[in-house]
Amino acid sequence: MEIKKVGVVGCGTMGAGITQVVAMSGYQVVTSEINDELLKKGLNSINAQLTKSVEKGKLSQADKDATMARIKGTTTTKDFGDCDLVIEAAVELMDLKKKIFADLDKSAPKHAILASNTSSLSVMDMATATSRLDKMLGIHFFNPVPVMKLVELIRTIATSDETFETGRRFAESVGKTVVVAKDAPGFIVNRLMVPQVLHAVRLLESGIASREDIDTAIQLGLNHPMGPLTLIDLVGLDVVYFIAQAMYEETKDPQYIIPNLMHKMFAARWLGRKTGKGFYDYK
Ligand SMILES: NC(=O)c1ccc[n+]([C@@H]2O[C@H](COP(=O)([O-])OP(=O)(O)OC[C@H]3O[C@@H](n4cnc5c(N)ncnc54)[C@H](O)[C@@H]3O)[C@@H](O)[C@H]2O)c1
Repeated sequence: MEIKKVGVVGCGTMGAGITQVVAMSGYQVVTSEINDELLKKGLNSINAQLTKSVEKGKLSQADKDATMARIKGTTTTKDFGDCDLVIEAAVELMDLKKKIFADLDKSAPKHAILASNTSSLSVMDMATATSRLDKMLGIHFFNPVPVMKLVELIRTIATSDETFETGRRFAESVGKTVVVAKDAPGFIVNRLMVPQVLHAVRLLESGIASREDIDTAIQLGLNHPMGPLTLIDLVGLDVVYFIAQAMYEETKDPQYIIPNLMHKMFAARWLGRKTGKGFYDYK
């Protein structure tokens, strides 16, 4: 199947990045939010990113205008009626995602592939909210989407070969390198990354080292581009929180237990860059 038009549900951190990259690759994109204010915020952030690229000489003004012209914002799933692929990038909560997929099953055309950008939840569980188990898969982008080259493609036991191969061609067509994982909690990257960042919070909590020294140690000692606490602030503490919670619920593996400090920061909405405060200050 040829993909011409793509829907994106949610225009937050990931949805905005996915919308931008997909539109830059020449696809028509419909992107949705829960209200006009959040939609405007998401579209403005895409516009700001593209403006930065123009200022740096990485993108022509004409290409920026053409990219923005390919994006249509909406607050209703009815506008997904002519999409060939819809990628869900809403909050990491199973009940919400199931509701979204049940809606998409009604509003997207029968031939359309439905995908989730979930970091940790079971794609098969989401698929049960639809009548098209064979047309569901995970297309997991990384943050920031325009920069990060990787996509994890998640195949459930019911994903058809055609859906899977179309998903692979699509991910490659937007400039990503594909790795394949089964529908298991955290797939590859988060299965390895989440225990490490949670351990970093425990290290801080136990007073073994300062936030700066934990970050510097991992950055310089393991040659990571940033330390784990800076990474949580970038990704969003709430995002890591929901991922860890989902992974613990599914595996009961104690390495995914959320440290107390993270519970407190979650309650205080110290979510990192997006709220101006996390492990560090961004105001
Ligand atoms: N942040 C990351 O680094 C990252 C990386 C990879 C994958 N993910 C996954 O991507 C998904 C989104 O994460 P995020 O960081 O973009 O979260 P976010 O909170 O920044 O954005 C989610 C957006 O979805 C919107 N939304 C909620 N319900 C909706 C609905 N019914 N219709 C339309 N929009 C709706 C919210 O208003 C919000 O703006 C999650 O499943 C997360 O696990 C996140």
